Amino acid sequence: MRITVNDYFRSGHGCKHFGCGGLFRASILGGLMMFIGTAAWGSEQLWVTLSSELLSIVDNKIVVLEKIENQNNGRSLIKIDESQLGILVSYKHTQQSFGGPISHYSKEEGIEYLYKNFAAEELSTLKANIFSLEYSLKKPEIVNLLVPQVNEDNLIAWIKKFSEFKNRYYKSTWGVEAVNKLKTLWEGYAKNRPEVTIELFKHSKFAQPSLILTIPGKNLSFADEVVVLGGHVDSTAGYVGGNNVRAPGADDNASGIAVLTETLRILFANDYHPDRTIKFIAYAAEEAGLLGSKEIASNFKKNKVKVVGVLQLDMTNYRGSASDIYLITDYTNKTQNEFLGKLIDGYLHVSWGQSSCGYGCSDHASWNAQGMIVSFPFEAEANQCSPDIHTERDLIDATQGRAEHSINFAKLALAYAVELGSVAPSIMMSSRMQGN
Ligand code: BES
Ligand code: ZN
Repeated sequence: MRITVNDYFRSGHGCKHFGCGGLFRASILGGLMMFIGTAAWGSEQLWVTLSSELLSIVDNKIVVLEKIENQNNGRSLIKIDESQLGILVSYKHTQQSFGGPISHYSKEEGIEYLYKNFAAEELSTLKANIFSLEYSLKKPEIVNLLVPQVNEDNLIAWIKKFSEFKNRYYKSTWGVEAVNKLKTLWEGYAKNRPEVTIELFKHSKFAQPSLILTIPGKNLSFADEVVVLGGHVDSTAGYVGGNNVRAPGADDNASGIAVLTETLRILFANDYHPDRTIKFIAYAAEEAGLLGSKEIASNFKKNKVKVVGVLQLDMTNYRGSASDIYLITDYTNKTQNEFLGKLIDGYLHVSWGQSSCGYGCSDHASWNAQGMIVSFPFEAEANQCSPDIHTERDLIDATQGRAEHSINFAKLALAYAVELGSVAPSIMMSSRMQGN
């Protein structure tokens, strides 16, 4: 049995779509893994929202305990044993238009997502929070000073360090250790900044916490406005995780965590103090259906945190397509995406394009579901990304030990943090006149 599973890992099921052989293999192994997943690690029941199209394909491949369909938006809600989740994820890659899956621990939340109108959510949140955002390049002296400081050796070191954990699975001890390691690392960079907080965000249903570093805004009129840069810290391999599965997750997503860490290092090394508050977040449990970011984004919404913009960094180091950066167009904000285009043209001078996943493929979808402004710059066209993700081969060796491609993303993250973290003088004046 073990050999078969490893065999499956070696076959890869990243961004290259399955042929018929792949589908066939997946269905046989699906049955097998149902047993292994449940027997070896125990599991819970989950609610999952997904497109009805995907459900019709996987319906007879997995055990569905309960099912509710929304015919108006082509989405379904199912109740499954957690061991079935990986099977869903693997099928999703067979076709671009498939939606989800997003996991939920309660039926109530599942129903909310089943009926949610994502576009309307965005409009109503934007209306409720009128920010005076100005998407312009107003801090060239600072950005041009910081951008050349991005150091590939650091990116390499962090990608290696985090892919050396046996795995970073959200239920494993390694998954917890990796977050603690990251916390210590970020604390080291922030050590001369007493106002900076670095906190674990604990999730009640699984062991791995998320990590949130906060640089409070220095401008008291704008410190309640929050800019978020994040990426997931967890990793997975194949259908199941578990404590001892090898899931290095170098590209997916040690490369995003390395970019966040290098960005932080440079901001602190230059003693940068933003006008707005900036938060760096390492999300737990993305691979299990966006669990960590979903809880954080809905917590922020509930607490009326004024999130002015979110940048998602997930997979940055594999150059799979002709251009350097691809802006994901679905489940993201068009206006902020255009702003990212301006940042790339103005500060990075590299090529960029657009691409789409066809489903909420990463944590940006959690923010989008709360109606918040989010963008997701990606390493390649979505279907040309690293073929090794979710396998034991997702190591830095796949990019010859280099992190050249990730440099672009660290530069973009710096430009984004500084420009959105700053308030234009005209906006400062008008807010003063209004007595804010
Ligand atoms: N890093 C991937 C997202 C991704 C994969 C983006 C391929 C673009 C192309 C992420 O970690 C992931 O694996 N997401 C899941 C979906 C999630 C909701 C469980 C996926 O795409 O299979
Ligand atoms: Zn992944």
